[in-house]
Amino acid sequence: MLNEKQMRNTPTKRSPRIEVRKPQWSFSELVGQKPRSDFGRMMFGAMSLVFPEGERFFIRSVKYFAAQINDKSLAADVKNFIGQEAQHGKLHETFNKAVLGHEYDIEPFLKWYKTNMFDFVEARATELLGEKLALSVTAAAEHFTATWAAHGLSSGYLEQHIKNQDLLDFMQWHAAEEIEHKHVAFDVLQEIDDSYLLRVAGMLFCAVLLPFVISAAFVSLAAQALQPRSGQASNLDIFAFFRDGVAEGRNGSIFTSFVPAIIEYLKPGFHPSDHDDYAVAQKVVEGIERRMAQVA
Ligand SMILES: [Fe+2]
Ligand SMILES: [Fe+2]
Repeated sequence: MLNEKQMRNTPTKRSPRIEVRKPQWSFSELVGQKPRSDFGRMMFGAMSLVFPEGERFFIRSVKYFAAQINDKSLAADVKNFIGQEAQHGKLHETFNKAVLGHEYDIEPFLKWYKTNMFDFVEARATELLGEKLALSVTAAAEHFTATWAAHGLSSGYLEQHIKNQDLLDFMQWHAAEEIEHKHVAFDVLQEIDDSYLLRVAGMLFCAVLLPFVISAAFVSLAAQALQPRSGQASNLDIFAFFRDGVAEGRNGSIFTSFVPAIIEYLKPGFHPSDHDDYAVAQKVVEGIERRMAQVA
């Protein structure tokens, strides 16, 4: 029987560049501002709340197998993958504290998320099913982030919806780097264990847990917007909120790409680099680097 590598039609092509960049944004000018619709801000806020702890999990699951990687170029990519994800987590935490924390009490969700998803689910699942499953969940999650990143950059969605340059740069930077390192967890999984069943199991876990935690984060923000602290009346325009939600669902955003991304990932012979969107990522990064150099 053919294994995953043999089922691929084309040889594995990887990102030409995975660079660990350390942009600095304080996001101070975003505090109290509304650079996009309430629905869009909450959607991004929910994802931003989920990222730091999630990215620490990605790092843990890949790092666990780092010493077993024989392919030297993949071993170097793993180091840069870890560096990039660490920076993403750091800046999302800065954003979460400064911007989301100004408007919402984010601590109850963050505590619930860490305690239940990582201290309990991750710990129990790896104990029962092994570290390879955690790696496979990460490979699947990276496929979602790369799919959403490619959509956000190539459709012009981010530029169209975000009016603040720092926030736009922040989201585009994260998206571009997700594209740059999209093959890493997948290739580590292939090198450690290229069982198709393991790949499917990781995707099943991820396809259930990822929307669940993002939805929980979204509800935690929406509930507070409907019932603000200090007993003041809600300033959320419910009609606009639902209208924007429907529009987001229709325009090919993360909602509509979810199921196609799963189907694509489960195709035997699939590889993340089958989509060559590295040039788009590169162009975006160059623009951000130019702007950062001007303010430095
Ligand atoms: Fe990331
Ligand atoms: Fe990533």
